[in-house]
Amino acid sequence: MRLNQKVAIITGAAQGMGAEHARRFVAEGAKTVFTDINAEAGAALEAELGEASLFVRHDVGSEADWAAVVAAAEAKFGPVSVLVNNAGIIGPVAKAADLSAADFETVCRVNQTSVFLGTKHVLPSMVRAGGGSIVNISSISGIVAIYGTPNVAYAASKFAVRGITKQVAIEYGEHGIRANSVHPGYIRTPMMTEALDADQIKVASGSVPIKRVGEVEDVSNLVVFLASDESGFITGSEYIIDGGLTAL
Ligand SMILES: NC(=O)c1ccc[n+]([C@@H]2O[C@H](COP(=O)([O-])OP(=O)(O)OC[C@H]3O[C@@H](n4cnc5c(N)ncnc54)[C@H](O)[C@@H]3O)[C@@H](O)[C@H]2O)c1
Repeated sequence: MRLNQKVAIITGAAQGMGAEHARRFVAEGAKTVFTDINAEAGAALEAELGEASLFVRHDVGSEADWAAVVAAAEAKFGPVSVLVNNAGIIGPVAKAADLSAADFETVCRVNQTSVFLGTKHVLPSMVRAGGGSIVNISSISGIVAIYGTPNVAYAASKFAVRGITKQVAIEYGEHGIRANSVHPGYIRTPMMTEALDADQIKVASGSVPIKRVGEVEDVSNLVVFLASDESGFITGSEYIIDGGLTAL
């Protein structure tokens, strides 16, 4: 039980990577609050995960929602010691001159402002918990630009997540609070299968040095490690998990 005694919040966890993180966190002993805008899928996962879990409907871009999520977590399980900022959207794929300001702001609100708001609202709870770990899910789009898939909003927001992570890490290290970012490459989730058809996934797999796309379990292994005390001396770091794609 690598997450025994932890109280965790995981966002965007009704499906995809976040849902797998929630399953693994419960299996590793964490009391797990998981959130999403998709209330139906969230309720179904809560029924699967049982008493050690709590689903809260939550728009990560809403500050009022964040206050309610932290209050619900504290009321049911106590002070929060792990935050996984996972919720994210791709938004329209369009070259910069063709992207509306409104679409840019929507993507930044869900991918970037959410990470600030979650961090802001969870930090006092983490200080009460005596320390904690913040795991921010960025992307390889927060490390390099992606040729052939124009999306400045996604790139801006995912680079910003990396910056927020490093700044928070140095501001709160003295409170025993760590913050690290995770940068997945191609991972098989609904986000991927909505964006790519089977042939495109085959091409994507061929472009990865390890010759496959990632699975949600690959990312959960890393997130559990970063959430656990095993990573106690790691903070302000970025973890690329892409089968070698950005090493090319
Ligand atoms: N799948 C990939 O290949 C890949 C690669 C790099 C990074 N990522 C990042 O990993 C994270 C998880 O991606 P995924 O592939 O599991 O995506 P997904 O689309 O399968 O799941 C994302 C979840 O976030 C929820 N969500 C969306 N907007 C929300 C909001 N405003 N408030 C709360 N929840 C919201 C969705 O309802 C959904 O359940 C995202 O941040 C994504 O950008 C994914």
